[in-house]
Amino acid sequence: MINPIIVALDMPSSQKALELAEELAPLVGAFKVGKQLFISSGPDVIRKLRATGAKVFLDLKLNDIPNTVAKAVIAATDLGVQMTTVHASGGTEMLAAAENAAHEQAAMLRAEAPLVLGVTVLTSMDDNNLAELGIGGSVQEQVLRLAKLATNAGLRGLVCSPQEIEMLRAELGGTVQLVTPGIRPEWSQANDQKRTMTPAEAIQAGANWLVIGRPITGAADPKSAAIRILHTINPELVP
Ligand code: C5P
Repeated sequence: MINPIIVALDMPSSQKALELAEELAPLVGAFKVGKQLFISSGPDVIRKLRATGAKVFLDLKLNDIPNTVAKAVIAATDLGVQMTTVHASGGTEMLAAAENAAHEQAAMLRAEAPLVLGVTVLTSMDDNNLAELGIGGSVQEQVLRLAKLATNAGLRGLVCSPQEIEMLRAELGGTVQLVTPGIRPEWSQANDQKRTMTPAEAIQAGANWLVIGRPITGAADPKSAAIRILHTINPELVP
């Protein structure tokens, strides 16, 4: 089993992020850089994270015309990231352009193509918010619709909430990579996450990767927090 923990480096500057990454790199599978850290620190933080040997998930949730998204995915591939995100609501052409850009650029670099992950419905949205956008039906239905759209366009992975893992596994089969935030070990606080699963529950339900932020980054001892989590998933993962 590969180490499924992706640590969300949600911090305002690269110094703390890089210190934490140095410390945690041997214990986790990857680091996630989101809009806050990327906009404040720029691509240099990605290069420095990659220099620790760690995998990087660049989470910018791209949504634009196909050509623009493809160019952004090429730039992300050049940076050497292993995962990146696009909004599935960008539509088939945009999604296919993103996936093709990842493969073509990686082939040129003789590298592995980054996993382009489709984001379906943000967990901050409920049925009423969808109705405001003119989208009928439930969040669950919209998630499934967009998940199918994304995988039919060629995407190999999706970001989903813990509550959606089982449905997406059942509907889409075993090969799609499912990346799940909203993870809370038994011993940690929920913070602003409302519907959570423990790391072991999410893996059991069929997640491939777990995005975990504050339970690790906010712990008094982030290394031992990561080790505790690994023990609950699979003790063999503890180095
Ligand atoms: O600190 P915490 O474990 O809640 O961090 C979770 C990470 O996953 C954050 O970077 C958050 O933005 C992200 N995320 C989320 N829920 C989503 C999508 C992304 O918590 N639906």
